[in-house]
Amino acid sequence: MDRGFLFGDGVYEVIPVYGGRLLRLAHHLKRLHNSLEAVRIENPLSTDAWESMLTELVSRNKGGDQAVYLQVTRGVAEKRDHAFPENISPTLFAMSTPMVASVDIDSVTGIAAITLPDIRWKLCNIKAITLLPNVMLRQQAIDGDCAEAILIKDGFAIEGAASNLFIVRDGLLITPPNGPALLPGITRDLIIELAANHAIPFREADITEEALFSADEVWLTSSTREISPVTRLDDTVISGGVPGPLWRRMITLYQEYKTAIRKGEAS
Ligand code: PDD
Repeated sequence: MDRGFLFGDGVYEVIPVYGGRLLRLAHHLKRLHNSLEAVRIENPLSTDAWESMLTELVSRNKGGDQAVYLQVTRGVAEKRDHAFPENISPTLFAMSTPMVASVDIDSVTGIAAITLPDIRWKLCNIKAITLLPNVMLRQQAIDGDCAEAILIKDGFAIEGAASNLFIVRDGLLITPPNGPALLPGITRDLIIELAANHAIPFREADITEEALFSADEVWLTSSTREISPVTRLDDTVISGGVPGPLWRRMITLYQEYKTAIRKGEAS
């Protein structure tokens, strides 16, 4: 009778772990807090309690590289009713699975993506467990021999079914601004920070469908896939069919950042 099961009434996070250390934990917990607040579920744990519980989960699963998945649902009620039940306490679930981190940059060939209409709801900034549209969209991509779907709304490219979108145009890195249309990705923010720290020209701007198809490079980013270069988009070859030079620069910076995490020199 859990409302997560009955209604998809809950929110979640996916947190990468490198060398037994949780990447950007404070940012993930802040986004979790925002998601919970948006759907009016009380946060079941304090920040400190989240940190010690997740650290214990990671170490009981033997450290190394993992992906932590956690979800909080509104909880269990006796009766199925759409309205919030009274006196209900949230259900908390967390697990971690081994993650194979990509390190050999030269062996990356890029992925194929398809564009599909964005059929999701109007609150995509909430990391809700209610993922049926995303599931359908990703499967449509897989059925078309593509790794991801890039979602188009009102003529603009928004994000992937489970990833954020970047393009490169004349040396300028561009990603759509945060807002209700997309998830504020933690990997996205880290890439923006790395761009700022290494004098890589960057701008937050809407990306038209035409700009997407004529981009010099297209990347999709997420906690589990890191930064994937898109080399084919529908029937269009992107960046000559090979990962582009700015991708190479950014993935190198990203790998350096992961090394710093492993050494406990970054968070
Ligand atoms: N998904 N946009 C959507 C719709 C996502 O589902 C995700 C991540 C992202 C990237 O966010 P982040 O960089 O914080 O992982 C963007 C996770 C990985 C998932 O559902 O498994």
